Amino acid sequence: MPLTQLIDDSATMPLLRHMMLAIEIDNNALKPTQRAMPMPSANQVLIKVVAAGVNRPDVMQRRGLYPPLPGASDIPGLEVAGTIQALGDNVSHLRQGDAVCALVTGGGYAEYCLASAVHCLPIPENLSFIQAAALPETFFTVWSNVFDRAQLQAGETLLVHGGSSGIGTTAIQLAKAFSAKVIVTAGSAQKCEFCLQLGADAAINYKEQDFVEAVKQLTDNKGVDIILDMIGGDYVPRNLACMADEARLVQIALQRGIKAEISLLPIMLKRLTLTGSTLRARDDVFKAAIAAELSKKVWPLLASGQIKPVIDSTFALSDAAQAHQLMESSRHIGKIILTV
Ligand SMILES: NC(=O)c1ccc[n+]([C@@H]2O[C@H](COP(=O)([O-])OP(=O)(O)OC[C@H]3O[C@@H](n4cnc5c(N)ncnc54)[C@H](OP(=O)(O)O)[C@@H]3O)[C@@H](O)[C@H]2O)c1
Repeated sequence: MPLTQLIDDSATMPLLRHMMLAIEIDNNALKPTQRAMPMPSANQVLIKVVAAGVNRPDVMQRRGLYPPLPGASDIPGLEVAGTIQALGDNVSHLRQGDAVCALVTGGGYAEYCLASAVHCLPIPENLSFIQAAALPETFFTVWSNVFDRAQLQAGETLLVHGGSSGIGTTAIQLAKAFSAKVIVTAGSAQKCEFCLQLGADAAINYKEQDFVEAVKQLTDNKGVDIILDMIGGDYVPRNLACMADEARLVQIALQRGIKAEISLLPIMLKRLTLTGSTLRARDDVFKAAIAAELSKKVWPLLASGQIKPVIDSTFALSDAAQAHQLMESSRHIGKIILTV
C-alpha cells in the first residue's frame, strides 16, 4: 500500500504519528530516548523493528570516530529485521506486513527504522527475526569484498583475521560454501576451536603463534590467495609476507592503526593486489546490486540451513549500552543482537 494511501486511512494516522523508543549517542554513551517515528520517502519503507544487529562500526560511531553520513539518521544501527509498516511512493515489490531484513545507513537501534526498499531482503525460510537481523551488515560486507572485489575462486585459500567476529563467522561459512579453504586468526583457544567447528580448515591463535610462520607452514610456503583483514597497521607487511603469487589483500578495518610501513617489492615480485572498501558510504545502486546477488546466490544456502548466522547474545533495545560493552570486551563469538 503506498504511503499516501496509508495516510489517507484515518485508522492508521495515530500509528504513523506516534513517538518511538530509540537509542541515541550522547557524549560517547548510549541513551534510550523518545523520537518521532520517521516517515518513508519515495522508494523507502518503514520497518517495525523486531531485532537489530550490533556491529563494530556502531561502537566507532558512538566513540565519535565514524560519524553518520550526511542525511542519514544519527541513531546508530546498520541492520534490522522486522515487518513492513508503511511504504513510500514507487515501492511495488513489497507489501505491508512483509517480514524482511534490511541494510540501513543508520537508525537501526529504534522501534521503527527507514530502509531503502531495494536494500530489503526476505527473511530466509526457517530463520527467526533475531537470526535475520544478524545477516545484512556482515553478508553484504563479506560478499562485496571477498567474492566481488577479491574474486575468491573454488579451491583458493582465504585467510580471515578475526575469525570469531561477526564478519569472520560469516566469511568462514560463505567461503566454505563456495569450496574455498579457510585459515583464521583469533585471540584464544576457545575462539580458534569455535572457528574450526564452524568449518575453518585451520585456526591460528595469534596471541601464541606468529601467523606469518603458521600460514607458511599450513600452505607449504605457497601463501594464501586472499586475506580479509580488519586489523591493518603492522599486520600489513606481515600480510604481504604470507600472500601467494597473484594474491589479493582486502582491507576492511584498521584496528591496529591507519598507517603501515611496507616494502613494495613483494607487490611486484608476487603481483599482489592491495584493495579495500567501506560499505556504509557506498551508493544505493551498489548496495542494491549486492542485495540482488545475495538473494540469488546466498539466501538459498540460508534457507536450506547449509549456513546460518552465529548469534552470541541478545539484549533488550534499552540495554544497548551493555551490548556495546560486550563487543568492546571482545568476549563474544559471532553476532550481538538487540531485541525490541
Ligand atoms: N569495511 C566495511 O565495510 C566493514 C563493515 C562491517 C565491519 N567492518 C569491520 O570489520 C571488523 C569486524 O566487525 P564486527 O562487527 O564483526 O566486530 P567484532 O565481532 O567485534 O570483531 C572484531 C574482532 O577483531 C578481532 N581482533 C582484534 N585484534 C585482532 C588481531 N590482532 N588479530 C586477529 N583478530 C583480532 C577480535 O577478536 P579477538 O578476541 O580474537 O582479538 C574480534 O573478533 C570491525 O573492525 C569493523 O569495523 C568493516
